[in-house]
Amino acid sequence: MKQRPIYDYPIDEIIQKRWSPRAYAPTPLSDEQVLTLLEAARWAASCMNTQPWRFIWAHNDGSEKYQKLLSCLVEGNQAWAKQAPVLIMALANLPKGGGFCNQWAAYDLGLAIGNLTTQASLMDLYVHNMAGFSEEKVRELFEIDAQLKPVIMLTVGHPGDASLLSDFNQQRELKVQERKPLEELILF
Ligand SMILES: Cc1cc2nc3c(=O)[nH]c(=O)nc-3n(C[C@H](O)[C@H](O)[C@H](O)COP(=O)(O)O)c2cc1C
Repeated sequence: MKQRPIYDYPIDEIIQKRWSPRAYAPTPLSDEQVLTLLEAARWAASCMNTQPWRFIWAHNDGSEKYQKLLSCLVEGNQAWAKQAPVLIMALANLPKGGGFCNQWAAYDLGLAIGNLTTQASLMDLYVHNMAGFSEEKVRELFEIDAQLKPVIMLTVGHPGDASLLSDFNQQRELKVQERKPLEELILF
């Protein structure tokens, strides 16, 4: 069991329980579970309600779509992410003429992934964000429109057996979450 950090203020349990695992149990998720997560993302706030979030997702079922998504990750991420039951690529829609709101699209997408992550915690699922992927490869393999920007790849699933990870990743897995002190973050 991962050791929990000490909180300076009593934040809700649902926020406390979130962390980013690398060891995942092989238990598959249902379509319903994944679509519930994406539904939570859908209801996030966005600049003038532009809803710039887009998704490509796959079960870890050996399908072509799954293999393509996995192959977009850098090797260090593939090494552990290949155990996760679901991969989700999140993209921001930046239409020509999108004006002012385009510069907030990544922020909007972050809010959507925040919703998704909280919904996941409520469902006892765990999310790991990965910037370590090739944007060019996503563009090439999925032939996505130029106005879409791949922003982040996610693994989702139930936490698994850390002893199956490499020594390096086992150490990262068991490390207690660390944060800067609140005083350093509040400027004025
Ligand atoms: C934008 C972003 C990119 C990240 N990219 C990676 C990644 O490529 N590989 C990885 O193993 N973890 C990645 N992470 C996970 C962070 O390292 C992790 O969230 C951070 O160390 C805090 O740990 P916690 O989420 O368990 O609290 C990323 C997280 C974010 C938000």
